[in-house]
Amino acid sequence: MAKITFHLADGSAQIIDAEDTEYLMQEAVNNSVPGIDGDCGGVASCATCHVYVAPEWLEATGPRTDMEEAMLDGTFGVESNSRLCCQIQVSDQIDGLVVQVAGT
Ligand code: FES
Repeated sequence: MAKITFHLADGSAQIIDAEDTEYLMQEAVNNSVPGIDGDCGGVASCATCHVYVAPEWLEATGPRTDMEEAMLDGTFGVESNSRLCCQIQVSDQIDGLVVQVAGT
């Protein structure tokens, strides 16, 4: 279980308890986090799960996958801390993670 904070486009924040073994997009969708739609089901081909990872969490969330990198190449508003949260595995290692929803 990991506590994850999503900062939302309207300036508010939503904190969820995410289950280990799931990917972050699925847990965000399960908790109705606004701006995380997960349209492709988590195969890194839609970017409706685009988030900006707080800089202090970049190492813990790991590098982008090759598929993720390719998808982000054509995505609006990509920054160095952009991730597709369908590619971030939930674990104790990211307990406390903070992300900003990109709101594509
Ligand atoms: Fe489609 Fe993440 S859910 S890219």
